[in-house]
Amino acid sequence: MCGIIAYVGPDAALPKLIEGLRRLEYRGYDSAGVALIADDDLWIRKDTGRVAALAAQVEGGPTAQTGIAHTRWATHGGISLDNAHPHVDAKSRIAVVHNGIVENMTALVGMLKEEGVTFTSETDTEVIPHLVRRHYDGDPVAAVREALQHVRGTFGVAVAFADHPELLVAARNGSPLVIGVGDGENIIASDPQAVVAHTRQVVYMQDGEMAVITADSVKVQKLTTGVKIQSEVATIEGDYGPAEMEGYPHFMLKEIFEQPRSIRRCLRGRIQLREGNAKLGGLNMDPRDIVATNRVINLGCGTSYHAGMAGAMAVEALARIPARAEIASEFRYRHPIVPRDAMFFAISQSGETADTLGAIHEVQTKGGQVMGCVNVVGSTIARTCGRGVYVHSGPEIAVASTKAFTSQVSALLVFTLMLARTRNLSLQQGREMAAELEAMPDKVARYLENPGPIDEAVAAVTDARYVLFLGRGYSYPVALEGALKLKEIAYIPCEAYPSGEMKHGPIAMLDEGAPVIAVTPQDSQREKAISNMKEVEARGARLIVIHTEGDEEMEALADVSIPVPAVADYASPLITVLPLQLLAYKAGLALERDIDKPRNLAKSVTVE
Ligand code: AGP
Repeated sequence: MCGIIAYVGPDAALPKLIEGLRRLEYRGYDSAGVALIADDDLWIRKDTGRVAALAAQVEGGPTAQTGIAHTRWATHGGISLDNAHPHVDAKSRIAVVHNGIVENMTALVGMLKEEGVTFTSETDTEVIPHLVRRHYDGDPVAAVREALQHVRGTFGVAVAFADHPELLVAARNGSPLVIGVGDGENIIASDPQAVVAHTRQVVYMQDGEMAVITADSVKVQKLTTGVKIQSEVATIEGDYGPAEMEGYPHFMLKEIFEQPRSIRRCLRGRIQLREGNAKLGGLNMDPRDIVATNRVINLGCGTSYHAGMAGAMAVEALARIPARAEIASEFRYRHPIVPRDAMFFAISQSGETADTLGAIHEVQTKGGQVMGCVNVVGSTIARTCGRGVYVHSGPEIAVASTKAFTSQVSALLVFTLMLARTRNLSLQQGREMAAELEAMPDKVARYLENPGPIDEAVAAVTDARYVLFLGRGYSYPVALEGALKLKEIAYIPCEAYPSGEMKHGPIAMLDEGAPVIAVTPQDSQREKAISNMKEVEARGARLIVIHTEGDEEMEALADVSIPVPAVADYASPLITVLPLQLLAYKAGLALERDIDKPRNLAKSVTVE
């Protein structure tokens, strides 16, 4: 994970590096640090707090024009000043910021220690400046190249040399790096959004490449051989720059309440009411290609995986072709079969998730087709897939994903409509589905205007030893999503189970008053869900029930009853997830958690 930014140009580097770190903080916020080349020396400052703390510490710092900076998500070594980047060589003349993992760290540390090197941190990164020093004879480029030949694993690195304030060296293998090409200044960063304030022209570095940047030049070469590479300069589209809180106390709350707008943005121009159909131009498929699709496989992690589950259920139910969702990190390593007639969707808010990217590569290596279902325009996943659907949620800043989930599900439902119309869905059924999708932003808004007794539910979970979420069919991914939210924001132990599976084990966890959250809208699974709730009730558990408005039987069963507007089965995740998002938010608030930046997490998970 971690975010890297580096600057060389005519201006003071420090303010630009700090501004870049703010934009990169979503990648990790365990510590932050900066190194400038000032008066032919390295000037280094670090802080174990957030970027804001580092910014306060370095205010009034040197006006040096070359520097590197880093915001960390700890992998090797705890959160401490020693482990914060930049890391330096023994003479403190070479500084490195790194995103990725040095997998052969143990061997390299052993080798360097035998050669007399003393380590000052527990990080894997520290081997890199020592290796660069080992190969440095005045040529910074050759030293970085030779040093990195020893490294196994993933890296995006930027290296600064006190002897060479005129240049920076960058290299990439498996961790994203872009170079912002400015007018008399150049910037290296982990993602394009960190450079947009300065330039929209970027070179996307590829794995196995290395770059030497000065204020006036960007020279890319092959990492192993030094052979020159003619890189394309691309233009960044869209800006996911610092979003405003718009008066809300947290981004998470703002993003929850933004969902009527974000879903509408996702649907705009894609639903064809009269034809009872939909159009997703970015897929670049004609009806014949769509008909040739006989299987859909959604890949994703965390919330994006849950959206993929809901989407796969809709495809199978409505288009009547086999569909499933796969956890990307599991999929990529089990030598999966990639059927020729399958369409894969890589679902990702950030478009940078390493596991999802790895799964895409696995499919592509085996000749499969992967479409992106991504929020961040121009992100690595969007570019790697080449085709797909942008979900247009707008910037999602809170670590807990909320509006991205509903936009991802919406986009997958639009795709389902398109696919189903080439097969099972009649014109009339297509029109009904198109109308239902169009109506969703208003239904979501209506629920959010009157969200029901969420505070009662919060009171039931904040002191709980264990919370069980239950759901069947489309409500199972919603239950999983609700449990994920409560864990990551409120740190309350909980799990989600398919309602019918509860009696095969988890029911043993229930005792008098244990909170059970049942997601049970009025759908085809409702009768069965009622039986499961009776089983829970019989064990004295406290039932918090999310059900369709006017469902009196559910209301009577519930200790806390949370009604939501009636919607079609396939659209229910868009509505039933809302109270669970609010529950997690309010529980986190009651427990005084760091809502937008919960402990141990990062917005974008760029390591395996
Ligand atoms: C969601 O609240 C989480 N922060 C996390 O599970 C997230 O959905 C996951 O890391 C995938 O991220 P992506 O959508 O950016 O690929």
